[in-house]
Amino acid sequence: MIIGSRAGEVSRRSLLHAAAAASLLPRWAAAAAPGGVTDEQRSALKSANADAALAPGLLLPPEDLKWWRDSKFGVFVHWGLYAIPARGEWHMFADKVPPQEYAALARRFNPRHYDPDAWADLASRAGARYMVLTTRHHDGFALFASRASYRHFDAAHSAARRDLVAPWVRAVRRRGLRVGFYYSPLDWRFPAYFHPREMPENARLLKQQTYGQVEELMRNYGPIDILWYDGGWLAHQGTDADAAWFWEPDRLNRMVRRYQPRIVINPRSGWQGDFDVEEGPARIKGPIRGKPWEKTFSLNGAWGYVPEVRVMSAGEVVTLLVDAVVRNGNVLANVGPDADGVIPPLQARTLREVGHWLERYGHAVYGTRPGPLEPVDGLWGMTQAGDRAFLFVHAWPAADLALPAMPRSVLQVRNLSGESVAWRSGPDGLAVSVEPQHRGQPVTVLEMVMASP
Ligand code: GLC
Repeated sequence: MIIGSRAGEVSRRSLLHAAAAASLLPRWAAAAAPGGVTDEQRSALKSANADAALAPGLLLPPEDLKWWRDSKFGVFVHWGLYAIPARGEWHMFADKVPPQEYAALARRFNPRHYDPDAWADLASRAGARYMVLTTRHHDGFALFASRASYRHFDAAHSAARRDLVAPWVRAVRRRGLRVGFYYSPLDWRFPAYFHPREMPENARLLKQQTYGQVEELMRNYGPIDILWYDGGWLAHQGTDADAAWFWEPDRLNRMVRRYQPRIVINPRSGWQGDFDVEEGPARIKGPIRGKPWEKTFSLNGAWGYVPEVRVMSAGEVVTLLVDAVVRNGNVLANVGPDADGVIPPLQARTLREVGHWLERYGHAVYGTRPGPLEPVDGLWGMTQAGDRAFLFVHAWPAADLALPAMPRSVLQVRNLSGESVAWRSGPDGLAVSVEPQHRGQPVTVLEMVMASP
């Protein structure tokens, strides 16, 4: 994805510079980073892919992506040693903690209240259809038992003394949710990550660990539905695809597909991926996007655990979900459990409330496709399924809401948010209006029955 128009290319380099600088900071600090680069711009830049890395032969056929497109909503979990110092998942890098000192955290990592069934239960009650867990973040600590880990930096060699991913996979499956693994190819413990050309032997070990761990994840946990890479770039600079010479993402993902032929892969290994990712909680704008995509953001200030200061409300999450779905997107909302393994209460509450909304309106969301009309930023958007179309209205004009003509004539309009709706269909389109007391929060949902084509 490219930001802005052709003229915008002039600023691409400066954006990249600012993006590299901003990404060295935790998210709550990066939001105010010099250069004013937003999370959304940064994520687009990271996954701006060079042609060399496109490898179209690796793409899933559309029928294998269908379940993912139907699912719409997932819960992301960032959890690791960084929950102990409680300064976010970039703590080691941002606070310049030497690797040996950081490694000592593993001896304290003993999550007494870790209950993957409770996590899966919460995600399911939130209306999520899939979960994604950080099996290993940039600090290099694996939540699973990993023989390929450099210097045994894994859960089996922590105070927990066991694989923490295996029971999570079982719990998620038990709830009928799809299973996603987040994996970061990079590892700050390796100086070669910052100087790959100058330190070939160390670089070889780094790459060997990545290939070895991805193979473990793909081989040892049964069918896995999503592989969510993050950080294919090198030295935190440029795009993921710029680092393809090093990681060889097409080779890596060919190996992945040998074990998991139908796994859905995101774009952050430097290979283009089966879907696009946009990161950050900014309002979603623009027309329906051609390639399926996912909006991801954290409910709390950072991805990894920090004390809850300002947690997103269910209304904010629902607004993003609606704005994604009417533009061909999914939402992946992140929680950061604490060092004991507990998802903090305000994040859990937001998820439960999103679940209440989805219980009522889920049939306008799950399994739908965007359209038939293009959304209007900040005002309204549509989904469709069979002979139904669903109109989501964020803001009502003073008079009737006038929609352009639909490709099929509208036979009936029902207000899912309240008792009544007034509507009129003419050659120029449809006019609808709903009295304030019959509008929904944060959005009004109308269902339309369309004539056969
Ligand atoms: C950002 C953060 C990273 C996090 C990721 C999730 O890139 O820097 O720590 O894991 O977002 O999308």
